[in-house]
Amino acid sequence: MQLCVALDLPSAAQNLALVRSLHGLDVWMKVGLRAFIRDGKPFLEEIRALNPSGKIFLDLKLHDIPNTMADAAEAVVEMGVEMFNVHASAGKEAMQMVMARVSALPNPPLVLAVTALTSFDETGFKAVYGEAVEAKATQFAKDAFESGLHGVVCSVYESQKIKTFTCKDFLTLTPGIRPFGEEAGDQKRVATVEVAKQEGSDFIVVGRPIYQAANPRDVAERILERF
Ligand code: C5P
Repeated sequence: MQLCVALDLPSAAQNLALVRSLHGLDVWMKVGLRAFIRDGKPFLEEIRALNPSGKIFLDLKLHDIPNTMADAAEAVVEMGVEMFNVHASAGKEAMQMVMARVSALPNPPLVLAVTALTSFDETGFKAVYGEAVEAKATQFAKDAFESGLHGVVCSVYESQKIKTFTCKDFLTLTPGIRPFGEEAGDQKRVATVEVAKQEGSDFIVVGRPIYQAANPRDVAERILERF
């Protein structure tokens, strides 16, 4: 299992201070929408400068028509990140086009598909997708697998089932982790590190429990000890 730390703080300076505080730990840095929209490519370069051998997950959840998604994916790959994601609900044609373009480039990163956002409960999910979370998330995961993606973003509670329906090496990245039972916030389907491990998550994403802690490095270290 690997740990992705969400750099979701309000300013680039605060996010970079977080990166510095985690120096030397074996963690991925997850750059999300707010940070990337505001701070862009220079922010990725600053993270890289602070930790040249570290890995970056660009969590932009691309969702558009196939050609636009593939164009955007190429632009993402050119920035040299190690992992990025798209929405599976964009469809197989879009995912296949993304993979065809990305795999033709040098050093292609890992590409994951978002199945069901972990902030959805059953009622909210059904209102949008018309189906239960588990059934639809599994279908999205199959679509992603058949489209050649490396894995999916899903809840801990779908990780095992998705691997059964695809293959055990199909990666699962699971947000909604509350390592030591912290407050869930807007996340509906939360789990501890132990549960994520039992359920076979390949990557866990932890945001607030680390960046809102008095000592983020200490929390990250305690999480890594449980791997
Ligand atoms: O603060 P918390 O630990 O809830 O952070 C979770 C992070 O994972 C956020 O950056 C959020 O955007 C991201 N994420 C998520 N659910 C997904 C995909 C990504 O919560 N399905």
